[in-house]
Amino acid sequence: MSVQTARRPADVAVHPGLAVRGVSHAFGDRQALAEVSFGVTPGVMTGLLGPNGAGKTTLLRVLLGVLTPDRGSVTFAGRPVAAEHRRRWGYMPQERGLYPAMRAGEQVVYFGRLHGLTRREAVVRAHAILGDLGLAERWADRTSTLSGGMQQRLQLATALVHEPEVIVLDEPFAGLDPLAVADLSRALRARSASGCTVLFSSHQLDLVQDLCEDIAMIDHGWAVLAGSVADLRAASGERQLRLHLATTDRSWLPRFPGVTVVGDLADELRLALPADVDPLVVLDAARAVTRVDDFGLELPTLSQLFVRAADLGGRP
Ligand SMILES: Nc1ncnc2c1ncn2[C@@H]1O[C@H](COP(=O)(O)OP(=O)(O)OP(=O)(O)O)[C@@H](O)[C@H]1O
Ligand SMILES: [Mg+2]
Repeated sequence: MSVQTARRPADVAVHPGLAVRGVSHAFGDRQALAEVSFGVTPGVMTGLLGPNGAGKTTLLRVLLGVLTPDRGSVTFAGRPVAAEHRRRWGYMPQERGLYPAMRAGEQVVYFGRLHGLTRREAVVRAHAILGDLGLAERWADRTSTLSGGMQQRLQLATALVHEPEVIVLDEPFAGLDPLAVADLSRALRARSASGCTVLFSSHQLDLVQDLCEDIAMIDHGWAVLAGSVADLRAASGERQLRLHLATTDRSWLPRFPGVTVVGDLADELRLALPADVDPLVVLDAARAVTRVDDFGLELPTLSQLFVRAADLGGRP
């Protein structure tokens, strides 16, 4: 299988944002990354996907200079990334690192100072980011007394306090409640819209589909999908009829031998339609047997593309 790419910004001569080119890295005889190439464009929120053990954290650690790859390069705006550039980036590692005894607000101020803000600037921005992430009232609480999800939000605040131009987050949405997911989505969207380069890894594919314009997916260390979410979904050439049905009666389905069931939950049936099947005829057949509460003609979901790409086993 070749890498399916809808758009490959990493291929243009000077990429305006982060460009990963041919990055390989092994731990002993385990190849964690194999010739991975993709780009993250400023203003284009990008999701990094892949099954457990695919190599996402390893790749993010290469981007951050924590690991030196065996081969390949990482550039930003066409130039090799140096330590002094990375110091200005916002980074949240998968293994969290907060000081448990420090008060929440002071922690964010401390990280702001580490990134070169004056104390005054750091205090102002710490208040703003803790407000954005729903933690304003916990400013004076010791970190160890915060719940897991609150510590996660605090960690995000420490990564964003200095208004970094490049934001790299490893599973920032893991463990957050839906309100915090909405707060963080808004915060990242605003930064991306103002021209920041944002890359984050996630297993929440519905969220990535809504939030990200671009994705890169790795599996067993290989890049298997890269480019625009919309283009990748359209590139499959597949139309899916989504039906919300009042009953589980499927007796009408065998009339359409070319139609494949791609999802069958209690009330939602998803069918992949061949080009010569009229969705309205299928809809009418269902309506003749059961009440149809909702329906739509859609592209395959990112989640389906993910499962299909992962089923192929990674290596091209
Ligand atoms: N320090 C290390 N030493 C040895 N092997 C490692 C090390 N770090 C990662 N690996 C291996 O590299 C592969 C990729 O791991 P990585 O942590 O990058 O995956 P991931 O995509 O982030 O997975 P997850 O979704 O579970 O976080 C795995 O097989 C892992 O066991
Ligand atoms: Mg990981």
